[in-house]
Amino acid sequence: MKPFYLTTAIDYANGHPHIGHAYEKILADVICRTKRLLGYEVHFLTGLDEHGQKVEQTARERHITPQELCDATAQEFIETCALLNVSYDDYIRTTEPRHKIIVGDILRKLFEKGDIYKAEYSGFYSTRVERFLQEKDKVDGIWPETEFGQVTEITEVNYFFKLKQHRAWLIDYINDHGDFIFPKFRAKQVLEFLKDDINDLCISRPKNRLSWGIELPFDREYVTYVWFDALINYISAIGYGGESFNQYWPVDYHVIGKDILVPAHSIYWPIMLHALDLPMPKTLLAHGWWLCSGEKMSKSVGNVVDPIDYAKQFGADAFRYFVLREMNVGQDSDFSHERFIGRYNNDLANDLGNLLSRNSNMLRRYANGVVPTVSLPLESLEREMVDAWEQTQSKVLEGYEQLQFHSALENIFAFIAKANRFLEMRAPWKLAKSNDPKDLEMLHTTLAVCSEAVRLIATILIPIMPGIGQRILSVFAIDQATWGTQLNWDLNHLAGRPLAMDAPILFPRIA
Ligand code: ME8
Ligand code: MG
Repeated sequence: MKPFYLTTAIDYANGHPHIGHAYEKILADVICRTKRLLGYEVHFLTGLDEHGQKVEQTARERHITPQELCDATAQEFIETCALLNVSYDDYIRTTEPRHKIIVGDILRKLFEKGDIYKAEYSGFYSTRVERFLQEKDKVDGIWPETEFGQVTEITEVNYFFKLKQHRAWLIDYINDHGDFIFPKFRAKQVLEFLKDDINDLCISRPKNRLSWGIELPFDREYVTYVWFDALINYISAIGYGGESFNQYWPVDYHVIGKDILVPAHSIYWPIMLHALDLPMPKTLLAHGWWLCSGEKMSKSVGNVVDPIDYAKQFGADAFRYFVLREMNVGQDSDFSHERFIGRYNNDLANDLGNLLSRNSNMLRRYANGVVPTVSLPLESLEREMVDAWEQTQSKVLEGYEQLQFHSALENIFAFIAKANRFLEMRAPWKLAKSNDPKDLEMLHTTLAVCSEAVRLIATILIPIMPGIGQRILSVFAIDQATWGTQLNWDLNHLAGRPLAMDAPILFPRIA
């Protein structure tokens, strides 16, 4: 089996899960599930970013140790993943020994190679983003307080990682590899950052200023800068240098938000890998932001959407459906409760929910609860359903491949609407009243065609709505593990199969 390795950003341990975190993990999960559907050997990594000044500060404010804060936050994020049905294979926490050991090894290696050096530096430091600022960070001549908080000038002896000398190489690499950054338009932003000289990266913090970090192996007075530590999670988790590492590296997708593409993922990380003689990630997938009424969500504005509330109230799958249906991967999107309810009632309760309950009710009522076997050749209306499925399947799989989940879902729901129209046209409730054996045959064919449509819809929805997909298949006593990849239309799949239960009400309407 072909290996497929995907990572998400590791979330900061000083916050709580919000819709941005939830979306990213769901998006990553959906990609992994589509790859599993296609038979890849998937390794899906997510985790928590536990070091740095913000974690130290928040812990102090709460009168607990940083480790206690991290443990509590890890539990919260892990529970959120479970609630949202995020099927990660590994969860890395940067305070784990397996991570710290590799960060230490890498630091030592780069120090010995001369890629890390010690120097005195004076500069303007932002506590908010935990780094020295540069002229190019300014907007209209100042470092915006909204982004950087308080900025203070400090002089300090620190360790620096050589970035400057790799600038030309990186520009060439980006220009030569069109798939390196998704969506493509974001490559411009990276190249813009690289237009002028870049400063070497300060990778240490003196312990008297920050102690919550990984000690430098060559100078115990310092800890490692949190970003340098955090980025390494992508290779420490798979055991840098070992067998798993050789199997999975280079990574297929680093799924991240657009705010951490430049400079962390598109400048620091590629250069760190390059200095280690490692191949580049195949694709940096930078998704957009969830906004609320056009504004970035923030605690102070009080417009933070709690994904846990939504998943608990309406089901994880409805929430997953909504965020994937609404967001064009890479663009921003606005979250609104009204839109959520609209999608839920129209798409899920009406279109999908009705099809399922009608199909199972009619099987019960007109076919003794058994999917009929079809013996006659199909008529044109039925053949249209088969053709429509074939087109839907290929468009949806292509959408999955191209990360166009919103349009893949649009196609699936167009097919659901078609199946509902098909039932209206065949009107089994009328056929059932007829005494003509031809009508009876037609009734059975209609039920068989509709059941196969339902099975296929459930199967292709599994990556997006794994719980609902499996529950629909359970109505036919089908197990996703064995049937999950049967995406071809075939009336023989279900012929003669009794309903295991009546279709549950999957999406009760919201008043
Ligand atoms: O950045 N909409 O952690 P984080 C969409 N620890 N995505 C959003 C979002 C929003 N409104 N807000 C945040 C960090 N995100 C670092 C990452 S990786 C080695 C270290 C995304 O908890 C954000 O873009 O602030 C990032 O990808 C992820 O959530 C975690 O953000
Ligand atoms: Mg952030």
